[in-house]
Amino acid sequence: MSDAIAKRKISFSPPDISELEIAEVTEALRSGWITTGPRTKLLERRLAAYIETGRTDVDTEADAARWSNRVACLNSATASEELNLRIWGIREGDEVIVPAYTYTATASAAIHCGATIKFVDIQKDGDPITHMPEMDYAALEAAITEKTKAIVTVDLGGIVCDYDRVFEIVNARRSLFMPLKPDGSPLGDLSSRIQKAVGRVAVIADCAHSLGASRVFRGERKYCGAIADFTSFSFHAVKNFTTAEGGASTWLPIPGVDNSEIYKMFQLLSLHGQNKDALAKTKLGAWEYDIIGPWYKCNMTDIMAAIGLRQLDRYPGLLKRRTEIISAYNKTCDALGISHLVHHTETMDSSNHLYLIRIPGIGEQQRNLIIEKMAERGVATNVHYKPLPMMTAYGMDSSDYPNAYDYYRNLVTLPLHTLLSDEDVEYVCAMLKGVMKEAV
Ligand SMILES: Cc1ncc(COP(=O)(O)O)c(C=O)c1O
Repeated sequence: MSDAIAKRKISFSPPDISELEIAEVTEALRSGWITTGPRTKLLERRLAAYIETGRTDVDTEADAARWSNRVACLNSATASEELNLRIWGIREGDEVIVPAYTYTATASAAIHCGATIKFVDIQKDGDPITHMPEMDYAALEAAITEKTKAIVTVDLGGIVCDYDRVFEIVNARRSLFMPLKPDGSPLGDLSSRIQKAVGRVAVIADCAHSLGASRVFRGERKYCGAIADFTSFSFHAVKNFTTAEGGASTWLPIPGVDNSEIYKMFQLLSLHGQNKDALAKTKLGAWEYDIIGPWYKCNMTDIMAAIGLRQLDRYPGLLKRRTEIISAYNKTCDALGISHLVHHTETMDSSNHLYLIRIPGIGEQQRNLIIEKMAERGVATNVHYKPLPMMTAYGMDSSDYPNAYDYYRNLVTLPLHTLLSDEDVEYVCAMLKGVMKEAV
């Protein structure tokens, strides 16, 4: 390392928690209501306003009530994707298509529902403009069979997939789709009505990284959460927007199906199938409840929602800061001839979640050496992701997914978060330059 530059310690993705979040959590703790309650409900409506219009200045219950109840806050994106799939009606015997290049939760949520997953490789070197490791759409189309019930798309790093293309594909394959038959159960009957109304394979978006990202879809700019049939977001500690752990589901209106029925099903599935939540049971004499199904426990607490309410106030500023850091990284990488994600185009604005770079002409070993050398200089980097077919749990032959492997072998993720000062960003760039000289 050059003697002229003092060593810094750069973490990969620490949470950005201000006094505002701390004060709101304190108030929640003092309020006497700490599990799912008014703060969670307010966050749901505020997220709906944000997803529908980009507005974050909606903060009273009366104002928030003007927005849709098509957001359900939960305890993680994994739970959120699983409930999306369950409400859509994924069952044993169904096939769910998942990109080979993603985090395990994208696939495991479908497996939890009893589905068989089918991996689809990514395009060689990712999307030609954004370089995002996006599914190979010809392979996606070919993978759809009569058993296919859903495609899970992933807006990796915050970059929004080509949903026009994805919807074109599922619409072209309508004739193969066989909707679920009603089975006399509340969940089965609801899913059957939803599948009949939609009449094609569902697009279930894994937007764990992409809250606040937008793209032109069917000629109109739309935020993630207002594009796919069902969407899941992650509010995990390393995400742009955090509630420590947490997540949310959103969905589009389903013609002929009462939205309150869908919202209610999210509440039931996330709270043991119990038809009254803790708040409803506090009403005088209202102790009695029924259990509709032996379901799950994945609700959001008001303590988590308290963090989210204040994060949402700050979110436009957090996104702007991420854009500034990305611009500085872009300059350095372009000068070094390193390929990187392109987070902003004429038709798409990412949520700036991850900065993936691919170093030309190297293999896995050299990539790992670069990661070590950056760590020696105090810079934590990462790899997003080792393709799922290579993981023990999935145990598939990675040679069947050559583009995913090729993308991964020379990939490094640089630290990108809002606690980085301009000097930190300059330091990361300087260390990258030095390490490239030494290791490549
Ligand atoms: C692409 C993707 N999907 C889903 C998840 C799961 O999110 P959560 O930890 O909130 O369940 C993650 C978590 O990092 C992710 O990266």
